[in-house]
Amino acid sequence: MTATEPRRTEPVVALRFEAGTLWALDQTLLPFQELELRLRSAGEVAEAIRRLAIRGAPLIGVAAGYGVALELARDPTPGTLERACRLLVDARPTAVNLSASVTRVRAAALEVGTEGIAAAALAEARAIHSDEQDASAAIATHGAELLAAAGAVLTHCNTGALAAPGRGTALAVVAELWERRRLRQVLATESRPLLQGSRLTTYELSRLGIPHRLIVDSAAAGLIAGGSVDAVIVGCDRVAANGDVANKVGTYGLALAAEAAGIPFVVAGPTSTIDLACPTGAEIEIEQRDPEEVRRALGQPLTLPDTSCLNPAFDVTPAALVTALVTERGSARPVGAESISRLKRI
Ligand code: MRU
Repeated sequence: MTATEPRRTEPVVALRFEAGTLWALDQTLLPFQELELRLRSAGEVAEAIRRLAIRGAPLIGVAAGYGVALELARDPTPGTLERACRLLVDARPTAVNLSASVTRVRAAALEVGTEGIAAAALAEARAIHSDEQDASAAIATHGAELLAAAGAVLTHCNTGALAAPGRGTALAVVAELWERRRLRQVLATESRPLLQGSRLTTYELSRLGIPHRLIVDSAAAGLIAGGSVDAVIVGCDRVAANGDVANKVGTYGLALAAEAAGIPFVVAGPTSTIDLACPTGAEIEIEQRDPEEVRRALGQPLTLPDTSCLNPAFDVTPAALVTALVTERGSARPVGAESISRLKRI
């Protein structure tokens, strides 16, 4: 790996709303094919979220907001509003951004009469999109200040522009560190079973010209213990009121390894990912996905067809293991009920 001149390329655009249509890069096809899906109803958006064509906590929130607006453009009635909201909220359970965004668009739509309901929903969906874009930029700055001394970082899953508007969350911090010329290398985990690290994070890091190496998930603890990493930085799908963090399965193990090695374990995400209604991580619903995802990799069978598998998509890292939570409003450090509530209520 050779370090090159930091170069700033435009981040990939995962989602755009144009002329009454939501266009979404189909992330199941990356990095081999860059193909946009044309989505025209809440049902199509919900399906794209369910099969992870659109994924990442902030991005599914933004997409769901547009999903409600698309449905109201077809039928601007309160009944349709309720049906669309339910359909979208049910698409995936763990990331709070999904229900938070739908709740926000629903409230905006209910404030106006039938005549303006579709326009009000679309305006709110656009506002959420723009808020998340601004949040990404602020997270990058705060995170880079916090990790200013880090030369080598390890990240998990995909948290870049494919996962959140703008430059993403944890990967936005990584990109900012690279631009500040301190960062030398990024270790990216594969993130089995769906390989968001292999397929998506390396794709984004390559586009940005950031030196990186892909590792299998099981190599992470040893590399952290051996001193190859100065800090671990990941995203989040839901942060409970006490600071416990739900994120891609495998995150908890990385936090334990970081704690044992005495290096920072930093979580980055917008305040829209904080759920004060969820007291602790124990109350966060963990999505259980199809065991077939474990039995296969990129569609190819890895096991006998009847192999019994467990496939939790996320795990919960206790607040005590999180060095800092970086948001667009600054950082919670230490992470706990008081610092989390302060950030959420600013
Ligand atoms: O199942 P995914 O790919 O949607 O999981 C995504 C993650 O776990 C990310 O780390 C999280 O959503 C933060 S994205 C900025």
